[in-house]
Amino acid sequence: MDLEFNIESKKENSNSKEKENKLITDYSKFFSLRNTTPVQVTPIELKSFVVSKDYYQFGAGVPSHLFFPIKGLKFQFQYVDETIEIEEDNLGTLQQYSQLPGFPKLIEWLRELQKRYHGLDSYDTEGKEWDILLTTGSQQGLDVMFKVFLDRNDSLLTERYSYGGMFALSQPFGVNTIGIEMDDRGVIPDQLQYVLKNWCTLHRDKKFPKALYVIPHGQNPTGIIYDLERKREIYNICREWDLLIIEDDPHFFLQFENPMNEKGHRILEKSFLKIDTDDRVVRLDTFSKFLSSGIRMGIITCSKKLMPIFNLEVTCAIFHPSGLTQAMLEALFLRWGYEGFENHVKRVQDILIQKRKDAIENIEKHLKGLVTYRVPNSGLYLWLKLNNVDCSLTFIRDIVFPRNVLFGLGISHSPDRNVKSPYIRVTFSYLEKEDGDVAFKILGDCLRSLNGNNNIDQDKKTVSVNDKSSSSKPHQPLILQLQFHQQIR
Ligand SMILES: Cc1ncc(COP(=O)(O)O)c(C=O)c1O
Repeated sequence: MDLEFNIESKKENSNSKEKENKLITDYSKFFSLRNTTPVQVTPIELKSFVVSKDYYQFGAGVPSHLFFPIKGLKFQFQYVDETIEIEEDNLGTLQQYSQLPGFPKLIEWLRELQKRYHGLDSYDTEGKEWDILLTTGSQQGLDVMFKVFLDRNDSLLTERYSYGGMFALSQPFGVNTIGIEMDDRGVIPDQLQYVLKNWCTLHRDKKFPKALYVIPHGQNPTGIIYDLERKREIYNICREWDLLIIEDDPHFFLQFENPMNEKGHRILEKSFLKIDTDDRVVRLDTFSKFLSSGIRMGIITCSKKLMPIFNLEVTCAIFHPSGLTQAMLEALFLRWGYEGFENHVKRVQDILIQKRKDAIENIEKHLKGLVTYRVPNSGLYLWLKLNNVDCSLTFIRDIVFPRNVLFGLGISHSPDRNVKSPYIRVTFSYLEKEDGDVAFKILGDCLRSLNGNNNIDQDKKTVSVNDKSSSSKPHQPLILQLQFHQQIR
């Protein structure tokens, strides 16, 4: 009885601590300087940007419908039997400028989708209201985050290894990215707490961070998932130190090990947004990794209070994502319904589980003893440590890539590009098993060939990063590495 009482009262305490109202009502302290001088437009000027049937519009710089090339439009979708024809009335709309947040029916469908997966879970906080906004993908979502929240010399906390495209943004923005150590469940709470508590001594010359950037499922590059307990711990630390959480979650639907529900669909982990009681989470979603990357479409989901400023940033940058893409997604989603969407998600997960298995078989066949890795339970990537190499950049650039095989480089995923990395990232979603058989054999041969290589430090059996080729050539910028990826395809 006593024990029960104690546990219950502890729970009560922690709940009441969590329930303490910390709802963010004013975001101005998080904003970048850029937002202290917002665009000056009057409401009547805004009206002159859009086409409307409510008034004679001579203000907008819009083309005539007589120029539009598309006369009829039918979609034939993979895994859908019927052909879906776009109504003639809508052809004009999709070829003309339109307005954010996006096409109304699509937006309504996506709002409901977000509610289903990320609707506030634990308890309602009065005044909490969120909304969505379309982008051209999470990369644009990230660009918006940097513009709205971060100035030169501001600090952003990230995972120890993180998405290269985020570092590609942080460097030119002049933002300090501070990587927090991770384990198999994500950022380690004690490490996060330690860095924040000791900020003034550890990072004396840097501003206190405004936000934590996380990739909670199928983390890029490590493939790990934050479980709910870990998310709560991280969330509470962010509450304590009043940090925003930028939840960049392209692999949310690509979770492999979860139990199934009665419909045979995997029950997905709760997101940071779902446990967010304070409106401190800004969530980025994308269709790139489970539908199509070329359609360029993503979603920002967060407090309604932030929407005007995000809306302005996206509008100033691109006006809105393509009407053609919006019409295509609208047609597909309305035809699928939520059940069809879930079936697609399951289909994608099953394909990826098979591809992960194929990749692992090839790795075990060709790289036994040469690499160390853990099997990822989500996402698209295997994160391999090359056992006898201390700089994957020089090794891949000088030895492997000349043999027409390329892997992602550890350094592209590190906040500090001056620290050499023994890691490579292997995308298992793309190539076929036979390609992997060839490529991993080449990698294995290259690793074995190092035994006779002059660059090996015999004691440590590692390749020296300070060989002549690497010290005379600067590291390839990330963008060039991405282009290499394209060229060998
Ligand atoms: C963590 C992360 N964020 C953002 C992106 C960019 O995705 P999108 O195609 O939606 O711009 C990627 C793509 O690899 C990613 O892995």
